[in-house]
Order: sequence, then structure tokens, then C-alpha cells
Amino acid sequence: MPNFGKNEEKLRLPRHIAIIMDGNGRWAKRRFLPRSAGHRAGAKTFQDIAHYANQIGVKYMTVYAFSTENWKRPKEEIDNLMNLMRDYLKDAKNFKEENIQVQFIGDLSVLPEDMQELIREDEELSASATGMHLNIAVNYGGRDEIVRAVRRLAAKVEAGELQPADIDEQAVSRELYTAGQPDPDLIIRPSGEYRLSNYLIWQAAYAEFWFSDILWPDFKPKHLMQAIEAYNGRSRRFGGV
Ligand code: FPP
Repeated sequence: MPNFGKNEEKLRLPRHIAIIMDGNGRWAKRRFLPRSAGHRAGAKTFQDIAHYANQIGVKYMTVYAFSTENWKRPKEEIDNLMNLMRDYLKDAKNFKEENIQVQFIGDLSVLPEDMQELIREDEELSASATGMHLNIAVNYGGRDEIVRAVRRLAAKVEAGELQPADIDEQAVSRELYTAGQPDPDLIIRPSGEYRLSNYLIWQAAYAEFWFSDILWPDFKPKHLMQAIEAYNGRSRRFGGV
């Protein structure tokens, strides 16, 4: 367990933290390294931060690993990212030993068959874990997720299982990849960008945001703690007074 200082003990932990792991390319460029080196360093940071968040008791974490728009990148970079995820999936002890429940969110049907198989295995293997629930968003897009949810609701209406008037916010939430999970309380985006980039756009309705210039491979547990401290300073009124 990390050694908590007095201040940290008093901190209210966000139940769900979502992270946009941005800045790998720039981190590599500054070091005159190929982009693949930035992603490799970013994957290591991801594991360190997931480990730390689980240790301090965060219940849900969602990371953006590959968006529906990332297919526009050169094939070599896409292959590199898929290989990093393969390595992570093969090394199942990452989450097994840590009691982390892992779930991949996004349209996984277009991923290579071997990856889909690894994902199924790992999700099954970790299904009974009682520690942090870790969502890894791959081929994920927030609008795409909502479109899929709407289609599923429409199909239920067509089948006579649902009345249009019964479609409320909960009904939509239940059709999202994150069904049954609390919405993110805190969304972290490093690397000096101030966008949501189609990430959890439905679930982010009342999230607090924390931005930083740090590039993702340089992101350390102390930065996660800074974000949590900032979150503690926010007054969340959810539209009330
Ligand atoms: C954005 O940085 C980052 C990505 C598109 C990929 C994030 C993926 C990882 C950190 C590895 C994931 C691995 C596992 C095991 C889940 P960028 O390339 O857009 O950076 P730039 O804006 O500086 O070019």
C-alpha cells in the first residue's frame, strides 16, 4: 500500500476516474524517438497508474486506448498499438494478481480474432475480482456508443418489449457499454489539450475535469493525487444550488 500522508487520508476518492492517455507521440518526438516508443512508455504508465488507483481504493477507472477515429493513423502505428494491447492481455497476471476486474468497451467486432479471443479470456478470468473495475476503451467512440444504444432501444420497441414513453435516461444508460457502472466523477486529460474527443460523452454529463500539460508517459501517481486533490476542491451541485 502507498504511504498516505495526513492530507491524503482525508481525501474523498472519486468513485470513477476516466483518463484520456494523450501525448505519447509528442513525448517520443521530444526525445527523437519513434512514436512507437511513446506508446510503449504510455502503456507502462497506464499499468503503473491502474496499479496505484487500485491500491488507493478507486472503484472504477476507464482509459481511452484507441478511438474510432484512431484508424486514420498509419498502419504501422495501429499495429504497434494493437501489439501493446496484446502483450498486456497475454500478461494476465497484471490484473489477476491485483484483483482487478478488466472490461473492454467499444466495438470489438472489428479487432483481429486473436485479440477478441484474448479479451474474452481475460474478462472471464477477472470477472470475479473484487478490486477496481478497469474499462479499457478500444475502437470506442461516444457517439457510436449512443447510436448503438438507440438502435437497441428501437429494436425493443419494434419487438413490442418497450413503449417509446418508457425510454428515459436510465433506459439509455442501460444500453451503453458502461451499463450498471457509476458515471465518471473525474475526467483527466494530460498533454495540454482541452477536449473530450468523443470520450464518454453521455456519461460525462456531470463529471469534473482536470487538465494538465504533462505528457501521458510522464504522468505519475503524484499527478493522479493532484487531480484527486483538485476534485476535492470542487463543489458539485449537479444543477442544484
Ligand atoms: C494518444 O497519444 C494516445 C493514443 C492514441 C494511444 C493510447 C494508448 C496507450 C497509452 C497504450 C495502451 C496500452 C494498453 C495496454 C491499454 P498521441 O499518440 O495522440 O500523442 P500525440 O498527441 O502527442 O501525438
